[in-house]
Order: sequence, then C-alpha cells, then structure tokens
Amino acid sequence: MKNKLIKGSPSVFKGEITPPGDKSISHRAIMIGSLAEGKTKVSGFLNGGDTLCTVDAFRKLGIDIKVSNTNVVIEGKGLHGLGEPNEIIDAGNSGTTTRLITGLLAAQNFNSEITGDKYLQKRPMARIVEPLTKMGADITGRDNNNLLPLKIRGRKLKGIKYEVPVASAQVKSCLILAGLFADGVTEIIEPQKTRDHTERMLAHFGANLDINGNNIKVQNPDQFQSSELIVPSDISSAAFFIVAALINPGSELLIRNVGLNPERTGVLDILKLMGANILIENERIDCGEPVGDIVAKYSDLKGIEIKGKLIPKAIDELPIVSVAACFAEGKTVISEAKELRVKETDRIKAMVTELKKLGADIEELPDGMIVNGSEKLKGAKCSSWGDHRIAMSIAVAATRAKGETAIEDSGCVAISFPEFFDLLERLRT
Ligand code: S3P
Repeated sequence: MKNKLIKGSPSVFKGEITPPGDKSISHRAIMIGSLAEGKTKVSGFLNGGDTLCTVDAFRKLGIDIKVSNTNVVIEGKGLHGLGEPNEIIDAGNSGTTTRLITGLLAAQNFNSEITGDKYLQKRPMARIVEPLTKMGADITGRDNNNLLPLKIRGRKLKGIKYEVPVASAQVKSCLILAGLFADGVTEIIEPQKTRDHTERMLAHFGANLDINGNNIKVQNPDQFQSSELIVPSDISSAAFFIVAALINPGSELLIRNVGLNPERTGVLDILKLMGANILIENERIDCGEPVGDIVAKYSDLKGIEIKGKLIPKAIDELPIVSVAACFAEGKTVISEAKELRVKETDRIKAMVTELKKLGADIEELPDGMIVNGSEKLKGAKCSSWGDHRIAMSIAVAATRAKGETAIEDSGCVAISFPEFFDLLERLRT
C-alpha cells in the first residue's frame, strides 16, 4: 500500500471495536513461552509485522511456534532449550525484538548475529550493550558497538547492580532476561517506572522477581512452567480511535478489552487533564494484567503542560496526543520527551513537519513540542516517515481537516495495527 487517501471533515465516529493485541505483551508471550517448560497457548496475539519478527527469531533459535491468526501455540523447551541459529536474526523494524532478544542471546552457549531494517539500523543499542558488557557479555557492532548488526558471542554472565540512565522498559527487560541466566543477583534500578509486562508475565509463569518500587532483583529461577496467556487489546492502538472520537463532533466509541497496565495509561491521564470525556468500564485482571473497556465521546479539549512522570507512561502515544492538542483550546507543551527522537523515526520532527503541512500551529522543542490549538487544519500530502504511529496519527488528524489528505508510505501501519485503515472507514458514519 502506497498513498492512502483520508476524507476530511465532517467525520462522525460511532460504534465499538476491539483493537488488535498488545504489541509489548505479544512479544513477551513468544519470548517467555519459548523459555518455559512445555506448551504455552496464547490468544489475542498481535499478528503484526513487529511481533512476527519475534516469532521468526525464536523459530530460528529452534522453537516450534504455530501461529493461526491471533492464536499461537509455543512448544517451550525450558530455560536452556535454545539452539544456535543457522541464519542472522532479522528483527525488521522492531526495537523490542532486538533489545530483549540480545539480553537472552548474550547468555547462551552459542554465537549469533542480529540485524534489522534501515530504520532499526539507526537506533541506539549502546543502552543495552553497555550493561550487558558489564555482566560479561561479548557484543560488537558498528559505531563503537552502538548500531546493528550486533555480533553476539554467547558467554556465562554474572549479575550486576545497574542504574538504568534512561526510562526504558526495553533496557530493563533486556537485563531481566539476561539476569535469568546470570550467576548471582542482577539488580536493576529504573530512574522512573516503565511498563512492567515482563515482570508480570514472569510472575504469571511462576518465576517471581523481587520488586521494590523502582528496584528489581532477578535470579536464575532454574526453570518455569508454561501457561495460558490472554493478550489484551493494545492501549497504544486504542489511543488513535479514542482521539478520533474526542476531536470529531458527535462521535462516541466503545473500545473493548483494552490493556490498562498503570504504566501504560498515561495517555488516558493526559487526555482527561485536557478535559476529555473518557469512561472506563468492566475493569478486570486477565493473566496478571489489568483490562477494561473504554468509552470516548467528543469533548471540548483544552491545552495543558505534559512532562515528568507522564512521559514514560505515554511515550508511544505522544504523537496522537499532539493531534488532540491541535484541536484543544490554547497551548499544549510537551517537554522532557527527547526519547521520542530515537523511536522508529524522530517522532518530534516527524509530527511537527507533518502537522505543519496540515496547517497546524506547532513548534519543535529539543525535547518536545509546543502546539497552539486552532481547529483549522486542511488536507495535504503527508508522509508517514515509514513509522506506523506517525501514519496513524496523521490519518486521525486528517479526519478533522478540511478536504482530503494523502499519506505516503502508509503500509507501515501493519507493524502494529494491520486493519487500522479498514476500521477507520468502518466506524465513520
Ligand atoms: C516497549 C518499550 C518502549 C516503547 C516500545 C515498546 C516495550 O520503548 O516505546 O514501543 O515493549 O518494552 P523504550 O523502552 O525504548 O522506551
């Protein structure tokens, strides 16, 4: 799919959807299921570009994984069941695949190599290579061991105490997975709490970590048992439809079965602070993760300041929050979010550039952006920058613009939300 055309306003979104499975949880289901002893059945799996790279990687490591739509069966071989791959592991566009798997591979008794697409090859890996090297790992890559491809010579690792310099669930999870194999205790201290899906899933499989606030201690669990897993819908995907409903007059959407992990719900906190009419219903716990249904209605939004603890809790949703800010009254300032510059693309530059094309009053900051809400966007020719979340954010903005918008290179939505454009059409009355 190349150029996608999105009709402009008026758009009214009505009805209900169940977005695809959570990307972070789906990756971890494959990884942890592969390390468990026995058969793990997963339902609600995200059958998307990123998570299929993780499936492919574990197949190359000798694990039998059957994927049928959103159901997956993993024949886990236990903690010491991975085998040397015959080929280079290709993580595609997926930072989560790369960073988490590298933690595992560093501790195996075989060598391996991992690479990715042209976007992933630009993303920083020193944040995992440095602490893994302190644990005794032998990993080399371009740019002084910072860039893919990474060559990993498996070694026996030792536990360390490590203060993670950036708030990153990928770095934390990489070290937790390495710590499962290391001698002694691996102690990880986070500067701010980040999504804890790895910790929750390991506990669900019977491998409990010692967690005290932002401090996590991991030890070799000897083994852990397979389990059934139900993956909730991805709040990061739900966020596009929540904002579509909030900014288009007359809209109301029910979004079912959404993962509400407290380290992921920053987008709801932010939108509520902006005055959004959002209700959570049917709250429950599934396989150790909080889940619920979300009702979002058209709302009069106002600009706010977004920084501090809200940033890691909403890191993937800040592009769509910047779209909501375009339709809010007054000024929205997003700061302390320079991590956005090292995502699938530089998401600060991408959103500022593309929203400007649509006529938004928006300005780049070194660590965020300033948006003056105006409600007067007009259709334009935009680019996705090859980034799924930029493509979907622009598409949502386009539904409230005057006239049609074309989005170049829109096929990248398949990374996390293959049916996004079909649903956008279907829910529009
Ligand atoms: C993820 C962590 C976040 C997030 C990414 C998924 C994860 O990345 O942006 O989409 O599954 O652990 P960082 O750890 O780099 O913040």
